[in-house]
Amino acid sequence: MTKRVFIRTLGCQMNDRDSEALVGIFLDKGYILTEDINQADVILVNTCSVRKHAEDRAISFLGSIRKVIESRSPKNNSLLPIVGLIGCMARSRGEEIFKKMPHVNLICSSAMLYKVPEYAEKILKGYKERIIDLEDSKREEWFYHSHFRFDKNHAYVVISTGCSNYCSYCVVPYVRGELRLRDPQDIIEEVKRNISLGIKKITLLGQNVNDYHYLYGDNYSGVRIFAGEETKNKNIFSFIDLLKELDKIDGIEEIDFITSHPKNTSRDLFYLMANSEKIKKHLHLPFQSGSDRILKLMNRGYTKEKYISLVEDFKMIVKGTLSTDVIVGFPTETEEDFLHTKDILEKVKFKYAYIFKYSLRQNTEAAKLEDDVSKDEKERRHRILLELQKRLSLSI
Ligand code: SAH
Ligand code: SF4
Ligand code: F3S
Repeated sequence: MTKRVFIRTLGCQMNDRDSEALVGIFLDKGYILTEDINQADVILVNTCSVRKHAEDRAISFLGSIRKVIESRSPKNNSLLPIVGLIGCMARSRGEEIFKKMPHVNLICSSAMLYKVPEYAEKILKGYKERIIDLEDSKREEWFYHSHFRFDKNHAYVVISTGCSNYCSYCVVPYVRGELRLRDPQDIIEEVKRNISLGIKKITLLGQNVNDYHYLYGDNYSGVRIFAGEETKNKNIFSFIDLLKELDKIDGIEEIDFITSHPKNTSRDLFYLMANSEKIKKHLHLPFQSGSDRILKLMNRGYTKEKYISLVEDFKMIVKGTLSTDVIVGFPTETEEDFLHTKDILEKVKFKYAYIFKYSLRQNTEAAKLEDDVSKDEKERRHRILLELQKRLSLSI
């Protein structure tokens, strides 16, 4: 009988794309995608660890799956489903959940997602009872090869996985691993595959797209791409080179990308954005805090003044819109620090701002600092910024 796979995705666009690629592999193996969890042979929860709230949601969903299983097995005698906790939480909470939730029989890290269909088959066939794989290594390129797309008009294309920036509050480098780059040729081919499917809009995904610097090295055996005369070092293919190559592809109507880290977002990128008809004139540029002291504690690598000056150049050169991420209540954040954050929101006037309350993440550098801004105070600062941003968004 045809088997059915159900997937619930929590977290960011990276996870949306990972779930899509994974579903594609299941479909290629003959599975059907179902939205009815009661019918599923394989139930997957693709998780996020970035804040406690995201982890709590996944744990409560995994708990609710136990009821689905209990209502199923004795009555209709059907096989028990695979219940998989996959993605970012595998490495932060996987071992604990494996011990505490016996009905979760598959745990797989974000790097090893391409193995999930193989692991599911092993369990379904009875070769193994439970599998946990928390490895962090480079993904196999074929993970991205399925033609399946949730959206027929727009595609996410991963350019890198992981992150090596180690912002002090952030769990991503620990759960997604070190920064790893896809080969430029593989990215370009994936974009072309999307275009041949009729997709016209592409969003490139990387935790910090500016970190994309592909080193060809002397023994590189693939197709070397050189993005034009301006490229100074012929052995390096940068994010700007990648954009220039994609800009040349017929059939693309819109290219955008997330996320850009202010510490290495360059004016060269702005000139390219200004001169391209295809690159969307919008930049997601998270500033996190307006206080130089807090920015230093966050290990962000820029100051309030540098951020404002970058934004002024963006507005002058690209004449586009901006969005951002902000954290309130980072350890030791005072009212004065907070007012600097508020000041950036007022000065820059973002189209959107995603405002978060600091959430302590185990193993991060910031976890060594006392989480000393009270819950009430975090909520007050969060509310003030949300209300301010609501007014500002309306004026743009
Ligand atoms: N790589 C991207 C996105 C990282 S996660 C970037 O660097 O911008 C998305 C957002 O979640 C971050 O920008 C930050 O604002 C927020 N975030 C990350 N860790 C957090 C934490 N421990 N507490 C609260 N918000 C956090
Ligand atoms: Fe986290 Fe910083 Fe990397 Fe973004 S750039 S994923 S905030 S460590
Ligand atoms: Fe994304 Fe959450 Fe992982 S923000 S990278 S799904 S920790």
